[in-house]
Amino acid sequence: MRAYGFLGVGGPDQEAFLDVPVPEPGPGELLVRVRAAGVNPGDWRMRRGEYGIAGPAVLGREVAGTVVATGEGVTDVAVGDEVFGGCPGMVGGWAEQALVTASFAAHRPSSVRPEDAAALPVAAGTAYDALNALALPVGATLLVNGAGGGVGIPTVQLARARGLRVVGTAGAGKQDLVAGLGAVPVTGGDGVADRVRAAAPDGVDGVFDLVGGDALRAVAPLTASGRLVSVADKPLVAHLGGRDVPRDRSTAVLDALAALVAAGELDPWVRTVEPFERSGEALARVEEGHVLGKVVITMDGA
Ligand SMILES: NC(=O)c1ccc[n+]([C@@H]2O[C@H](COP(=O)([O-])OP(=O)(O)OC[C@H]3O[C@@H](n4cnc5c(N)ncnc54)[C@H](OP(=O)(O)O)[C@@H]3O)[C@@H](O)[C@H]2O)c1
Repeated sequence: MRAYGFLGVGGPDQEAFLDVPVPEPGPGELLVRVRAAGVNPGDWRMRRGEYGIAGPAVLGREVAGTVVATGEGVTDVAVGDEVFGGCPGMVGGWAEQALVTASFAAHRPSSVRPEDAAALPVAAGTAYDALNALALPVGATLLVNGAGGGVGIPTVQLARARGLRVVGTAGAGKQDLVAGLGAVPVTGGDGVADRVRAAAPDGVDGVFDLVGGDALRAVAPLTASGRLVSVADKPLVAHLGGRDVPRDRSTAVLDALAALVAAGELDPWVRTVEPFERSGEALARVEEGHVLGKVVITMDGA
């Protein structure tokens, strides 16, 4: 079958369409015919070698599709079911058929498009888990650093639904988007901490960082270290006294997210849908670092 991935660790020149065998679902795995697959910064991080996979390997860590086979011990999903979920080892999704971890898969409600479902496990799932990790009380103020990105957008929506006040940093072109989601928008860059203080005169009760580096250093002092989490720069957040977000990669979380999408309470903000043939362009859009919302790949004929 055809797949898109990388031949060896490196830059975009390592990417290629690959001819690979259809994988066999092992215990606790599903094999799906892929309809749509999410694109995430983790995909270019994988190709750059950050996760220790040398390649050749198929990229893609989340998909929506139709179950064509189930592995040993799978009881809640049957052949023909429409599902979405995360891929074992965070690889293999950008292919005609892909494995999905059954314990991190859920049935896709018919009212939720495959393109939207495929964008939920990584970005919205991380948003969901970060809010649980911070556990801020109703009325508290959350700063989302990088509020206009794939994780930031669902974070703002879920935080508002929990009754939090939200201040969100974003580039100049995403201020209206962030405001439209119910957050107070603030531009990033020099002086960001002062702009956040002005937007939240009573202080910030928690920070969820999605940028890392200097942008994380700039906002870290705004909250107590116990209320600082980042998924963008794990070494730096630990150095600053904060922490990573423990992920709950479970069917229960995916069911909750899909129900919110079906109810119109969560929009994963899929604004770029590329055909499989343009997988490289799709990844380049995300790797550039300022894409608007989520990018999703759709498979031929799916
Ligand atoms: N569980 C995990 O470990 C996990 C899961 C998901 C994501 N992540 C990580 O989380 C990060 C964000 O993921 P994502 O999917 O949201 O990425 P994304 O869609 O590319 O969004 C990144 C955001 O960062 C903002 N940004 C970029 N450079 C900036 C700067 N110098 N100052 C301020 N803002 C800046 C961009 O906003 P503007 O365009 O407005 O500048 C954009 O909204 C990535 O590092 C990803 O690898 C980790």
